[in-house]
Amino acid sequence: MYKYILLIFSFSLVACGGSSGNSNSVPAQPSSAQISSQAVSSAAKQLALVPLPAQVVEQNGVLDLKTEVSLVADSSASTATQAITGLLNLVGINVVNSATTKIRLSIVNQPDLGNEGYRLVIADDISISAQTDAGLFYAVQTLKQLLPVAKQASYQLPRVEIIDIPQYAWRGSMVDVARHFFGIEYLKKHIERMAAFKLNKLHLHLSDDQGWRMEIKKYPKLTSVGGSTQAGGGPGGFYTQDELKDLVAFAAQHNIEIIPELDMPGHVQAAIASYNELACNNVTNLGLYIGLDVGFSALCLTKPEVIYPFVKDVLTEVASVFPSQYIHIGGDEIKHVLYPEFIDKANQIIKDLNRTMIGWEEASAGKNLAPDTLLQVWNDNYDIQSATDRNIHLILSPCSYFYLDHGNYNGQPETYTWCRRQGIPLERVYSFNPQKYSLVTGIEAPVWSEVVTSEAALDNRIWPRLAAVAEIAWTNQSARNYQEFTQRMKALKPYFDGAGIQYYAEPQLGW
Ligand code: ACM
Repeated sequence: MYKYILLIFSFSLVACGGSSGNSNSVPAQPSSAQISSQAVSSAAKQLALVPLPAQVVEQNGVLDLKTEVSLVADSSASTATQAITGLLNLVGINVVNSATTKIRLSIVNQPDLGNEGYRLVIADDISISAQTDAGLFYAVQTLKQLLPVAKQASYQLPRVEIIDIPQYAWRGSMVDVARHFFGIEYLKKHIERMAAFKLNKLHLHLSDDQGWRMEIKKYPKLTSVGGSTQAGGGPGGFYTQDELKDLVAFAAQHNIEIIPELDMPGHVQAAIASYNELACNNVTNLGLYIGLDVGFSALCLTKPEVIYPFVKDVLTEVASVFPSQYIHIGGDEIKHVLYPEFIDKANQIIKDLNRTMIGWEEASAGKNLAPDTLLQVWNDNYDIQSATDRNIHLILSPCSYFYLDHGNYNGQPETYTWCRRQGIPLERVYSFNPQKYSLVTGIEAPVWSEVVTSEAALDNRIWPRLAAVAEIAWTNQSARNYQEFTQRMKALKPYFDGAGIQYYAEPQLGW
């Protein structure tokens, strides 16, 4: 039995208009700021929902949901239909045409809901409407958090109207599968968990000094040699193109886009060990690398006749596997007079593939970047103005808030401290204010895996902190409050346990 104390609250939708935090290069959507400024009611805060929805309006009483419902779903709502079917199955509710309680999933023309917003009404029936399948899918994730994880004979759902819309179009998680390799089955679990918190971009860091993880058919040694080890030694691993296509399809079923990153022109020792000619002729360090240093390897920028055909071939295969609009070129931690030229050439190759480049912040050195390029900020105080002056938008990953390889607490073993000595506790993550930046497309939290050696450790670094990231990216800044977030997260513990997440038992959540 759910015991929600809901306060009566009235609201109104305001007309669509004004600016949002969204990028010009990601489909525009109204921001939750455009929904009534009274947006987040006390009612919303009583429900154990993360991320916090934009509006919750109580209607009196509960819906007593028995173990049968009928389901009426728009035929174009394939991911939402799959999600609701899975959810009903999980809680033991059968879909029976003659059942009196209906669940409706309707695609509607309501521009103020944007590309990902939804309206969820729990009354005598459950009515969900959105402009898109993705919006309906997110409503199902909300419904999932309102239901218990264990099967019951019946379920008491609060009668409520929720209108919800994300603040940012880019709500991401990055996993470094290069320093330590993590298999497809783990990534699928991660995708399911991300989706539950309405995250929508999974950035895979697919190559680095310690390993090359994506099969490239034209250069088989990239994986047979470059994929054969990892940081600290060990077997490494790689994904075949078929496995990656399957992962992309799985992610799409969860409204998550996979963003591939092949890091260049630095961070390439695994590629050099596979094809020595990619290094300059005077380079003698041509072997595999299992250490933890950065900034020592580079494609030979003075051998354009060697490296650009390689870059083009690799990115062409990347584009054939990943349908994402964006390809991440890396571009971090290298200083060379020809570096800006490399960025411009890589950008042109990606444009010729009808895709859009993302680079880490250093790629702002490119001279010919189009405004639809995205740059990912990782140093807290990096001067990115040369990019924003050109109307280039940002993915925010400042390391002292979002580098989840740093400790959940000061002194946590096997964590990094280079960006923030005291680690990055949950409260610190949550305290980030994206409004300090302009031209923000969204938020993304990376986990670098030099010292993350197992799936259990990866879970521990990601959760619960990624839920805070999700709320920063989804919920209007003015509506967020850490104490209330911790209360809602506390109540979601059974979800984390039920999903088998090996989270860090954060004391501030009472876990
Ligand atoms: C980075 O942390 N080198 C992007």
